[in-house]
Amino acid sequence: MENKLREIRERVLQNIEDARASGNLEQIRVGILGKKGELTGLLRGMGKLPPEERPRMGQLVNDVRAALEARLEERAAELREKEKQARLEAEAIDVTLPGPERSAGTLHPMNIALRKMVEIFVGMGYEAVEGPEVEFDHYNFELLNIPKNHPARDAQDTFYIDDNIVLRTHTSPVQARIMTTRKPPIRVICPGRVYRADEADATHSPVFHQMEGLVIDENITMGDLKGTLDEFARQMFGEGIRTRFRPSFFPFTEPSAEVDLTCANCRGEGCRMCKGTGWIEVLGAGMVNPRVLEMCGIDSTKYSGFAFGMGVERMALLKYNIPNLRYLYENDLRFLTQYR
Ligand code: PHE
Repeated sequence: MENKLREIRERVLQNIEDARASGNLEQIRVGILGKKGELTGLLRGMGKLPPEERPRMGQLVNDVRAALEARLEERAAELREKEKQARLEAEAIDVTLPGPERSAGTLHPMNIALRKMVEIFVGMGYEAVEGPEVEFDHYNFELLNIPKNHPARDAQDTFYIDDNIVLRTHTSPVQARIMTTRKPPIRVICPGRVYRADEADATHSPVFHQMEGLVIDENITMGDLKGTLDEFARQMFGEGIRTRFRPSFFPFTEPSAEVDLTCANCRGEGCRMCKGTGWIEVLGAGMVNPRVLEMCGIDSTKYSGFAFGMGVERMALLKYNIPNLRYLYENDLRFLTQYR
């Protein structure tokens, strides 16, 4: 029995040494120390020994058991540590790898055009101001010399919220707000969204953007207006692009003009875009009507001013040679991301 014990001890210690995974150790433990284990069997067989041998043998078996248990424990700790290291290595993250690519958005071409327009006027000393899109009739019409039942209201198909409140049909109410709250000299641009009950087509949308300009000071003339818009055209579309004024009518300006730009596509030669004329109509302008100045509390004998209003989408179409307004609103990224 002593030999048997020694043999078990050597063999199992070797097996423990050879084990390559903590799971294998458990098999070894069950095989030797479990209920049906080898050592357990030996202990049971002690009954057959002569009584005087039993204590010594019992002691021996317990020694072997203790030795094996201790070694199992140690080895298990070793293997667990090894396995942990292997796992850490396998799961290691290489923080120097480049991250997944994220595509940065691009500005919408309408916004690119708008930013450029604002930049040009800010460069000329203008301040950009904003006003509400839901506007009182008072600012959208009355203060601009368009009383109720005035035929000019028909030209701007208005979305009414109620009798006194509208979705602004142009950015001109912002100039009315500025004139009633500030004293000259005034030099502002008012970019923003406007609404008209128009059917959407190649050149119309019920929602679009305008940029208004307003200058009021002593001795402001139509020449200042013309020079300002010429300089704007040059910076926006390049050398050789000029303005042409045609007489027109707006209730809030007198005299009024519709302003054309040299067609940027053919540079004035005449092409399909300008219908052969060499000019493209882009904005409305004029000298602020003295009546409007007075209604807004500005002395019209001392001050004069000019105002202009232009469509932002229209500028974007011209700048990028886009044939149809709808492209700007359809949100097709293949189209929109072409513009930087
Ligand atoms: N508010 C006019 C429009 O929307 C444009 C304009 C602005 C005309 C300023 C003259 C002066 O049609």
